[in-house]
Amino acid sequence: MKNILITGGAGYIGSHTAVELIKAGFNPIIIDDLSNSQQTVLERLREITGKEIPFYFGDCGDRSLLNKISEDFELSGVIHFAAFKAVGESTQEPLKYYKNNVGSLLVLLEFMEDLGIPDLVFSSSCTVYGQPDTLPVTEDTPRKEAESPYGNTKKVCEDILVDLIKSKSGLRIISLRYFNPIGAHLSGKIGELPSGVPNNLVPFVTQTAAGIREKLTVFGDDYDTPDGSCVRDFIHVVDLADAHVKALEFLENKPTSFYEVFNVGTGNGNTVLEVIQTFEEVNGLKLNYEIGSRRPGDVVKIWADTSKINKVLGWYPQYSLADSLRDSWNWEKNLKN
Ligand code: NAD
Ligand code: WQD
Repeated sequence: MKNILITGGAGYIGSHTAVELIKAGFNPIIIDDLSNSQQTVLERLREITGKEIPFYFGDCGDRSLLNKISEDFELSGVIHFAAFKAVGESTQEPLKYYKNNVGSLLVLLEFMEDLGIPDLVFSSSCTVYGQPDTLPVTEDTPRKEAESPYGNTKKVCEDILVDLIKSKSGLRIISLRYFNPIGAHLSGKIGELPSGVPNNLVPFVTQTAAGIREKLTVFGDDYDTPDGSCVRDFIHVVDLADAHVKALEFLENKPTSFYEVFNVGTGNGNTVLEVIQTFEEVNGLKLNYEIGSRRPGDVVKIWADTSKINKVLGWYPQYSLADSLRDSWNWEKNLKN
């Protein structure tokens, strides 16, 4: 059984990926400093999988801790989720973001090279496309200047990986550019745990439905889109988790010094107002919302061309927008109780 280190594995996407890895016969090992997650997630993972996932508390940029893990387990791959992701905060504290997001990647890469751990899956983001000139975006769509230090950390990390592979490093690396992950595990036992007031749409929707927030504000309905609100590609987190499994399996058969980038989305664009309407329909609720002004820096519309990941990795999403919004609400209700 292959041992896969998951940095940030107690977080939203990492925890769902741990479940899918176990289902596929991998042995995940989690390192997380719990800066944006809670230790209870590990207990939940045990309930879902029936397995005790080895957990190391600490910074994945701490080489001595990584060395300790490699003494305990022979690692064959790493999935690097650990990062800070609050776009607004990154504009206030850019160094914190560069240090954690870029710094931890550098330490990890050196660790992997030194120990001959071949495979890496890196969490990138559709944020690297900025406001694209053509839609849907393919992996060859030019990346734009980043809107935020957070976005720039993803571009810089991608560039580091490209340079490393050009240097004939023995690693095999895939960057997955996630679109907008939503939803939660179907068990309702794990999901997104935003700290404070959510910035992202769906956690704000579910918290409003739960009465934690009074009202959702739709940031603009006068864009050049079908109903005037922004368009995004919302992907169920379990589908996204599965893409990591497919990526690791694909890397197993590749030569060394290998690098590829894949979009991970559904290939469909949905507007913010469609999300609200679908949420109301699938859950039989009325949401308190109002139309407000545009949010500065918002991308107007973006969705993925997923033909590359469909064809090369054989990955297809299984869940619809309605499924995702049902599972997000189920998770929110469980949190409330
Ligand atoms: P998350 O905050 O839920 O998970 C990240 C986890 O990493 C947290 O558990 C946090 O405690 C941990 N962590 C942070 N820095 C660490 C460090 N130095 N050492 C150890 N642990 C550390 O975020 P997520 O939504 O699961 O995102 C995972 C990755 O996907 C991130 O790299 C993020 O930038 C990227 N991403 C997320 C989205 C999204 O909308 N959620 C979209 C695109 C890309
Ligand atoms: C989606 C849409 C909002 C909240 C962010 C990051 C990006 C990437 C994905 C990591 C937008 C609208 C939102 C609300 C609203 N993450 N909205 N009312 O903008 O695609 O990107 O997450 O890499 O880097 O910036 O996601 O969920 O914030 O917003 O109307 O209360 O919902 O204006 O159109 P976004 P989001």
